[in-house]
Amino acid sequence: MGRHHFGRRAPQDIVTHTHTSRGADLLVRGARIWPSHPRHAAVDIRIVGGVIDEIGPVLDSAGLPVLDAQGLSVIPGLVDVHVHFRDPGLEHKEGWDHGSAGALHGGVTSVVEVQNNPPLSLDRAALEARIAHVRTRSRVDFGCLANLTSDSIGNLADMAPLTPAFKLFLGGSTGLGGETDYGTLRRLFRAAALSGRMIVAHCEDENMLREAKKAYPEPTVLQHHVLRSVESEIQSVRMSIEWVEETGAELHVFHVSTQGACELIADARRRGLPVSGSTGPQYVHLSCDDAPRLGNLLKVNPSIKTPRDGAGILAAVESGVIDAIGTDHAPHPLTEKMRDYAHAPSGMPSVDLLWPLTLELVRQGRLTAESALASVTWRAAQSLHLPRKGRLVPGYDGDLTLFDPTETRKVSGAHLPSRSKWSAYEGCELAGWPRLVIRRGELAFKDGEVLVKAGGRPLDLQPPLPIHGR
Ligand code: DOR
Ligand code: ZN
Repeated sequence: MGRHHFGRRAPQDIVTHTHTSRGADLLVRGARIWPSHPRHAAVDIRIVGGVIDEIGPVLDSAGLPVLDAQGLSVIPGLVDVHVHFRDPGLEHKEGWDHGSAGALHGGVTSVVEVQNNPPLSLDRAALEARIAHVRTRSRVDFGCLANLTSDSIGNLADMAPLTPAFKLFLGGSTGLGGETDYGTLRRLFRAAALSGRMIVAHCEDENMLREAKKAYPEPTVLQHHVLRSVESEIQSVRMSIEWVEETGAELHVFHVSTQGACELIADARRRGLPVSGSTGPQYVHLSCDDAPRLGNLLKVNPSIKTPRDGAGILAAVESGVIDAIGTDHAPHPLTEKMRDYAHAPSGMPSVDLLWPLTLELVRQGRLTAESALASVTWRAAQSLHLPRKGRLVPGYDGDLTLFDPTETRKVSGAHLPSRSKWSAYEGCELAGWPRLVIRRGELAFKDGEVLVKAGGRPLDLQPPLPIHGR
């Protein structure tokens, strides 16, 4: 067991998509590395060909363009491990144009995207077409997840080199149905293991979701967390970990919403199993107690549970059991969210707010600065084995997010780039609004304005590591 160890591959194994320059040259002058240390004065960061070349007190610009960043704090460009931009197919809900502009607004320079509307990525040709489509549209670097279903099971080895992971919906949600048959799920885990790519999973037990639906013929959003229960997530995570043990698959549990699931993941890791996880801002900032106030805006899957679950999840982020905070950015028009409960789609947008929402957890004293930052930068990248992202270190990509930590502002959904134009955090006073965002040496966002049209590139991937004979 224990086939995988994070960071196990040598850098020379990394698959890069080109051998030419990765980006632009830039000297960023005078920013403070956040979280600041009393001894750390402002530093200069030199980026050459899109890659961090040197970080130090006063660097020679050596003829490079200079960007004055005095007074601002700097962190690595954020990595959002989970977004839905719905393009192609449902561009009226978002699209890469708006979605990747929203990412920059939130300080995000890399996204891992899940297509859960047709055309799905079920074979290599479809995945290649998808990557080609996104390459001309994304303003940020991107990974396209392929779908893991009975229809794609024969194509995983072909797709593995082109995708960071396979997305599996154990529980059905807006867009895709779940899977009730444990035999089928076990086969999907085995196939992913043989392909050498990890599974990222939406864990809610489909059988339990269906049973609960029968028990509540006329539910409202007040019952959403009862219909999509704590137990359904725990059961699904428990079974998934069993299948990891049985098949050798590697698993990342997306949007963990319960303390119980955190405990199962912690236990699996203690046993040396290749299991990681992420949560979303909604599971720690909001709770089921917000349902009367927010109505269907709170309707997301998995459901948002109790404040106690939120506290348990944050403890797991702090200890590193939960690796990442990814948004599960799931935009829907307000008109659709205003339908009655049964007909309103699940999901909320928030990629536009990822850094402000993460920093807020530090301001509220609920996470240390180090853990909060790790959960949206290096630890997020590492949990999906994404090289060169999420650290301010020479050799890493020159992706930087700069903000003024003293500046606060109220959330206004109408002013966010995402097409949905509403936010569950409307009116909240947040800090950490990105002022400058640099993508591989190029200034991509400045004071609310998006400066790049496209230019995002596929994330570098490590080669798949197929296993045999299980
Ligand atoms: O609430 C959700 N919305 N959960 C999902 O799993 C899918 C998502 C969406 O795409 O709208
Ligand atoms: Zn999702």
